[in-house]
Formats: sequence, structure tokens, C-alpha cells
Amino acid sequence: MKLNGLGLRIAAVLALCLMLVATCFAGEAPVSAEAGDQFFHSRSLGSPYTTGIPYALWLAMMERYPEELGANWGEFRDKFGLLEDPARPAGLPVGFVLYDTKATATRFLMTNCAVCHTGEINGQVINGLGSRSIRIHAFNSAVMHIARRDDFTPSQMLPLSAAAARRNHVPWGWRSRYVTKKAIKQLKTLSATYVEIDAGPGRSGVLEFTKAIHKQKVEPPYGFIRIHSVWTYRKRESFGMDGLMTGDLGAALAAVEFNKGMPANYIVDHPNQWASLYEYVKTVPAPKYPGPIDFDLAQQGEQVFETACARCHGTYAPGAQPYKEKIIPVARVGTDSDRLRSITPELTTATNNSVFGKYVQVANTGGYVAPPLDAIWCRGPYLHNGSVPTLADLLLPAAQRPISFFIGGDTAYDLQRLGVAYREDLAPDGSRRGVRASAKQYEFNTRDPANGNNGHEFSNKLSAEESAALLEYLKTL
Ligand code: HEC
Ligand code: HEC
Repeated sequence: MKLNGLGLRIAAVLALCLMLVATCFAGEAPVSAEAGDQFFHSRSLGSPYTTGIPYALWLAMMERYPEELGANWGEFRDKFGLLEDPARPAGLPVGFVLYDTKATATRFLMTNCAVCHTGEINGQVINGLGSRSIRIHAFNSAVMHIARRDDFTPSQMLPLSAAAARRNHVPWGWRSRYVTKKAIKQLKTLSATYVEIDAGPGRSGVLEFTKAIHKQKVEPPYGFIRIHSVWTYRKRESFGMDGLMTGDLGAALAAVEFNKGMPANYIVDHPNQWASLYEYVKTVPAPKYPGPIDFDLAQQGEQVFETACARCHGTYAPGAQPYKEKIIPVARVGTDSDRLRSITPELTTATNNSVFGKYVQVANTGGYVAPPLDAIWCRGPYLHNGSVPTLADLLLPAAQRPISFFIGGDTAYDLQRLGVAYREDLAPDGSRRGVRASAKQYEFNTRDPANGNNGHEFSNKLSAEESAALLEYLKTL
């Protein structure tokens, strides 16, 4: 960030000193799954000065720009597909935390892993499931729209922030004024180069965030990717649905924080934080299918799976040969290639040359990981880009899968077809297009770039009976 004037520069140095003091006092807790659990769900990660926003400023923004953010936390959650957390004060959504800095006596609003990695199935909250509803890009765009406004200035926002702080009993002193002013300027700077993209609910343009951090061009093809479930990570040898990151798999968990703007130095200086998160992630259980299962049918399905699927996805019976990660070239699996095409040599070089690159290496693998299928029943919509709504549809030849369907908001989950529930229109030529079930939904069109639903046709030769048995077996994983 560019600073103008000596005064600001001195102030920045002062802030840096205060940050260092705060970091030293905090120290690094020993590695443990318990600490990881805390980081994942209820603590902040990293420095609020880089990845947080002063809470009083946030409250003032909600009051002043309700059309962008919603007038209260309820409207805010609705707008961006966030879950309610009854245990949290003031209606904060799941994954949002408040953090009081010692050095600047300011309360910050921050997010942690749970914001993206808490899912929901028909009202049941599932820990570690990728959120199907969160609208990460819509949220970023709303904040950037505000930052770009002419009336979003320190002189207008500081008095409003102070007033919001008073009304909501949020600590507010001269140092809060200073950090809030700085935050406003930081947001303005970010908004100047912000490129508006939208991956829709439950997905993220992770590589696009990384490119923005490296000050590289954000342009198509975009690598939009589903938010993955975390309980399969313990079986993995790399990070990412294409296995793009290898090396220290604990440090790889900092990838999203890096994308949020956490400095690489902070990441490498806090190894225990990532190691603890890794320990915790390994303990997150795969949720069990909640409905009845026909075990005789499932047993027949297991035979089908062994023949048609296990060579890539491993086996799941107790004592069976464990899953071994395989990356399948995109030409073989045939799914959408935009994610791979978005991994440019500039991107991999910049990441590998950063301090972060000492711990993880990034490469274009040219393929996708055949992922572990634990609790696959709840992980729809499927494939790396979420382009196939249900497992029943994934078992069909690509040409017979729905061309479009509706996701996000209050979309129900279909426990028979195993995936997002949808209504559809059947055209005379047999093509299937989704029909909107509620105003909160978002249309997923598989004919749009990065959204292709082609490929993975490994079940084309199965009979209808074999497919039905296989689907029943998939409920048991
Ligand atoms: C903004 C949303 C978001 C946040 C916040 C987030 N993640 Fe993720 N996570 C994703 C996405 C998207 C993917 C898929 C990434 C890919 O394949 O490139 C993912 C993938 C993962 C995976 C699976 C990796 C694999 O290949 O199996 C794990 C484990 C994980 N994240 C853990 C974490 C942890 C721990 C945190 C907190 C430090 C975190 N995530 C924060 C969106 C998020
Ligand atoms: C040649 C290797 C291979 C075979 C055989 C194979 N798969 Fe896959 N599978 C993959 C790959 C690679 C992916 C990831 C593709 C992507 O996301 O673009 C995948 C993805 C999936 C997914 C989606 C996972 C998710 O998290 O969205 C499911 C479900 C799945 N496979 C089930 C099966 C079943 C059932 C069979 C047997 C009929 C099977 N696969 C056969 C390689 C294979």
C-alpha cells in the first residue's frame, strides 16, 4: 500500500511496532487438535490489521448501506448465504468472530475456517462440510462497492463509527480512530484494482484471489471451485481438487488466509497454528447417512464399486486396502478444464518464490484428484466445479445430466438421489433444465464458462439395476 506524507509513514511504523508487541505477547501455543478446533471455529487467525475490519466501522457500514449489506445480521446472513450461530453474541453468523486488540484497544470483526467449512442439510448443521450457500464473491463485491463510493471517506465514516460504537457498547478510543481511518484507506486502495467476478453459492475463485494478491491480471479462464469437505484431507497427499499444492500439508491450510491478504511472513512465523489446524482437521468425522439403507442392495453395489470405481477411489471396507491418492489427467477424466487452464506459470512461480514457497510447492498437475468418497452422500453438487446436482445424475452419461439447476439460499437436499434437490422442465428432445423453487436461489448453468458438466463417464456401461445398487452403496461411505 502506498502511504502519502511523513505523518502517515510515522504512524504506520508506530502501528507496526504495536503489532509486533501484540504478537510477541501472544506467543505460539503448542500444537494440538484442541487448539486447531479453536482456530477453526471460534478464534481469529492472523493479524486483524490485515485480515479484519474494525467492528464499529462495520456496524456503521451496515447502518449506512443496508442495500449492500443488509440492515441487520439476519438480513446479512440471508444476502450472503451464511448460517446463524445461536451460541454467538449479537447474531454474528457462523465463522465470524470478534477480536479485541490489546495494542490499539480496538474491536475487530474477522472470519475463520468455519465460515466456509460449515454446511447444512435440511436444517441440520454439519461440521466440516463445504458450505453450499455462502456467496463469497457477492460479499466481497458488496464491500468493494461501498469502498468505491465518494461518501465512504474517513471524515464521514469516523463519526458514524464512533456513534455506532457508543450505541453498541464497542470500545472506542483515539487508537480506534487511527486504525479505522487506516482500514478505510486500505479498503479504498483494494477497491481501485478489484475485479468483480462471481462463482455463485458454495464456490470460490481461489486462484483469482491469489492472482490479485500477487498483483497479476484477473481474467478468464476462471478456476471456480467447490468448497471441499475437510474430513477427506487426512487421506490426502496434496491440497486442492487438482492436487496443486504439495509439501507441508499443515501450512497448505493457510492458503485461504494468504488469499485474504495474510502476509506470507505471518504464515511462516506461526507454524503451530497450521499444524494444530491440521491435527484438528484429521479428527473431523465423516457424517453418517441419516436415512434407512437397504444393506442387501448396498452389498451388491459394493461389487459394482469394486469393479468400476475402486481402482481410482480406493476401497472402504474395514481392513481393506486404504485409499491412495491418484491424479487423473484431465483428458482421461474429461471434466471441465478451466480450473487447470487458470493456473498460469506466473501464478505458480510467484507463489513458489514467496516465503510461503519454502513450505508448500504449487504446480499445474494437468489433472484432477480422484477424491476419497467418505460421506459422499452429503457432498453435492458434485465434481470440482459443482456442476452435477446429484449422485444419481453423476452416474448418467454426461449428455443426460441437467443442463441447469438452482442452488444456494434455502435449497433442500435430496436424500434419495443424493444431492441438491431440484425441479426441472423436460424439453421434447429430452434435455433437462432447472426450474426456480425460491427467490433466494441462483441458477447454475452448465453451459457457462468453468461450469461444464461433461466427463467422468465411468458408469456408462452399468445397467439400471447396477446403478441403483451402486447408489445405495454410496450411502454407506
Ligand atoms: C473463503 C472460503 C474458505 C475458507 C475461509 C477456508 N476454506 Fe478451506 N477450502 C475452500 C475451498 C474453495 C477449497 C477447495 C480448494 C481447492 O481445491 O483448490 C477448500 C479446501 C479445503 C480443504 C480440503 C483440501 C483438499 O484438497 O482435500 C481443507 C482441509 C480446508 N479447506 C481447510 C481449511 C481450513 C483449516 C481453513 C481455515 C484456516 C479453511 N479451509 C478456510 C474454501 C475456504
Ligand atoms: C479413472 C479414474 C476414475 C474412475 C474409474 C472413477 N472415478 Fe470418480 N472421480 C475421478 C476423478 C479424477 C474425479 C474428480 C473429477 C473432477 O472433480 O473434475 C472423480 C470424482 C468423483 C466424484 C465427485 C466427488 C466430489 O467430491 O464431488 C464422485 C462421487 C465419484 N467420482 C464417484 C465415482 C464412482 C461411483 C465411480 C464408479 C462408477 C467412479 N467415480 C469411477 C476418477 C475416477
